[in-house]
Amino acid sequence: MEIGLIGAGFIGACLARKLKDAGHTVRIANSRGPETLADLAKEVGATAVSVVDVAKQSDVLIISVPMKAIQQFPANLFDGARRDLIVVDTGNYYSMRDGRIEPLESGMPETMWVAEQLGRPVVKAFNNISFDSLRNQGRPKGSPERFALPVAGDNQRAKDVVIGLIEEIGFDGVDAGGLDASWRQQPGSAAYCTNLGASRLKEVMQGLTADYRAKLGERRDMALKKMLELPNGIDIGQGFKLPFAKDSVPLNRSLAGLPD
Ligand SMILES: NC(=O)c1ccc[n+]([C@@H]2O[C@H](COP(=O)([O-])OP(=O)(O)OC[C@H]3O[C@@H](n4cnc5c(N)ncnc54)[C@H](OP(=O)(O)O)[C@@H]3O)[C@@H](O)[C@H]2O)c1
Repeated sequence: MEIGLIGAGFIGACLARKLKDAGHTVRIANSRGPETLADLAKEVGATAVSVVDVAKQSDVLIISVPMKAIQQFPANLFDGARRDLIVVDTGNYYSMRDGRIEPLESGMPETMWVAEQLGRPVVKAFNNISFDSLRNQGRPKGSPERFALPVAGDNQRAKDVVIGLIEEIGFDGVDAGGLDASWRQQPGSAAYCTNLGASRLKEVMQGLTADYRAKLGERRDMALKKMLELPNGIDIGQGFKLPFAKDSVPLNRSLAGLPD
């Protein structure tokens, strides 16, 4: 497949590498121009292009940027794109990084908001796995250690394609319902970065109640605070560290009341 990526940071670069290794043609773009992605493109075997060109030849466009960047995309992002282009959002909302986005503060599912901003159907996937789990914890089908990623969206064909990509890079894909249900995989949820096997993931997501949803933002902010207190991680500037899965997954599981 022809896969375009907007965003080539922790998640985007990792997806580019894995999807290229799985045999796809991969194009990557960021806000600063293709020349700034030349080294990564060479290393991964992808092609660096500009944001306005990345959707053009793509079957699937994966958007992996801080949520606030969605509003900065050029208006002609989808010029020349296929009508049935599958758009995927890996994003999560953190007001500390993204600034306050009022509809999200009020509980609108994040990717519904993204779809509204883009004026296109969007699938939510790859948002609930940390960069180093994505990088290191893919396992062959049937392996007892293989865990699952939820895929939410309103178009079944699009979800099936994304589930197929997830399966190819070492994880089980779970249909998590429509975008209206995608809050179940957002930060603050028991499904967020807890690396659960497929049947456990389905059970946990289905068990999340309306009361749980009402406290999702509060749970997200509390989990973020604890996450930032972890002593180890990759320095991402401004005094923050991106924690490693060996520390963050047990923390998320414990906050969600899940056994280790
Ligand atoms: N890190 C994780 O473990 C993790 C896990 C799951 C989901 N996520 C979510 O996935 C998204 C990406 O996370 P990340 O950690 O990969 O972020 P990141 O490392 O900061 O990378 C963000 C990428 O987006 C690009 N970008 C920023 N603004 C842009 C714009 N206006 N137009 C085009 N490209 C733009 C950046 O490049 P330029 O600045 O050069 O444009 C960079 O390549 C976030 O929403 C995050 O919450 C992260």
